[in-house]
Amino acid sequence: MIGGGYVGLVSGACFADLGVEVAVVESDPAKLAALAEGRIPIYEPGLDRLVAENVAAGRLSFGGDLAAAVAGVEAVFIAVGTPTRRGDGHADVSYVNAAAEQVARALTGYAVVVTKSTVPVGTGRRIAEIMQRARPELDFDVASNPEFLREGSAIGDFMRPDRVVIGTGSERAREVLRRLYRPLYLIEAPIVFTSLETAELTKYAANAFLAMKVTFINEMADLCEKVGADVHDIARGIGLDGRIGRKFLHPGPGFGGSCFPKDTLALVRIAQDWGAPSRLVEATVAVNDARKSGMAVRVIQACDGSVLGKTVAVLGLTFKPETDDMRDAPSVPIINRLAEEGATVRAFDPVGMGHARALLPGSVVYCTDAYDAVAGADALVLVTEWNEFRALAPARLREAMRGRLVMDLRNVFDPAAFAAAGLDYRGIGRAAPRSQP
Ligand SMILES: NC(=O)c1ccc[n+]([C@@H]2O[C@H](COP(=O)([O-])OP(=O)(O)OC[C@H]3O[C@@H](n4cnc5c(N)ncnc54)[C@H](O)[C@@H]3O)[C@@H](O)[C@H]2O)c1
Repeated sequence: MIGGGYVGLVSGACFADLGVEVAVVESDPAKLAALAEGRIPIYEPGLDRLVAENVAAGRLSFGGDLAAAVAGVEAVFIAVGTPTRRGDGHADVSYVNAAAEQVARALTGYAVVVTKSTVPVGTGRRIAEIMQRARPELDFDVASNPEFLREGSAIGDFMRPDRVVIGTGSERAREVLRRLYRPLYLIEAPIVFTSLETAELTKYAANAFLAMKVTFINEMADLCEKVGADVHDIARGIGLDGRIGRKFLHPGPGFGGSCFPKDTLALVRIAQDWGAPSRLVEATVAVNDARKSGMAVRVIQACDGSVLGKTVAVLGLTFKPETDDMRDAPSVPIINRLAEEGATVRAFDPVGMGHARALLPGSVVYCTDAYDAVAGADALVLVTEWNEFRALAPARLREAMRGRLVMDLRNVFDPAAFAAAGLDYRGIGRAAPRSQP
């Protein structure tokens, strides 16, 4: 497994748990040092135990020496990052290409080289070319096996996937991968065999569709606010239709994270390059960008048009709960803008504050818990719906705050209870209850 990040570490540990011998190669010395000491460099529920058990059983190992790890293996998974390339929005496949070349030089016999990273259509073919050029005599096949796990529930997603997609033109490669995934097939996870290009595009299509669904309900939420309708009832009213489905119909401050923003943007570029532009995905990207940057403006407007000299408490910094991932998190543009406009931001996140420090202004005050964050605050903005925020006592918040404004960007609080405590509650896409003086 080349790359010990969110995907490589989880997939490596899960394969090991299924009885496969896995060597994870990680090039970042800090991550490697942590792994060597038995520390998990990311926050993912259950991962520490899964890693410890499989290391102890001798099936899972970590190292920085790619050549040693791939000697004698049947399959090499490339799970390195494919971030947005600066300037043009394309996926940056330089880490993937570099890994492919390193793998080609190190292989000692036939192996299947599998991209688990999300890569543009044509990357698999390009990998084959790179490897052939590096080692013309090498016997290998290339396959695409996109990963659909979600951070925060990654182990469950890997072990009980809705489906496994495997794209390759080689029967020999299919056989190796079929064997690897056999334990999941036995629990009836469907395996979809496709061509290389189809598998590569399937991943982008899946993420773009989900991102579009989120963006759709966000637009409906805005409309609900205008007409006095309730977006949750709408989500239920449409989601119970099996053709639509209930998931990903939860309104919020705009999607973020390590995948949707970069993958929608990359799909826009891929589609343009191939002369089949996707106006739906282009609109999704534009609407979501505007929503994320507009969220701070909403807060400022709710604070009577100015946050200068005011204190705003922000609960939740990571792009979603149960992860420490801050990539493209909606909290970042919100907090940056509030700080620019002269607010003092008091923030709390159960696990994200370490990573957040590098991305947020130095003036942000990091707090010990939610009640500490709201102490003396003029407004409270809930950005990420960690479970521990769901049961916050409105009366205690009211007592600790200087002001009364609560902006619940995930609709997790009970509007009536907050209003009853004298708080000025504002959710997303639903009418504000009347607060009591
Ligand atoms: N994070 C997710 O939820 C998720 C889900 C599905 C798919 N994906 C895709 O999976 C890929 C990886 O994502 P991630 O979130 O795990 O990224 P990540 O940045 O957390 O991890 C990538 C790791 O690869 C390492 N690396 C880079 N080049 C290397 C090399 N040559 N040898 C060894 N290690 C190397 C990096 O140091 C890093 O630790 C991306 O393409 C992403 O789009 C991510």
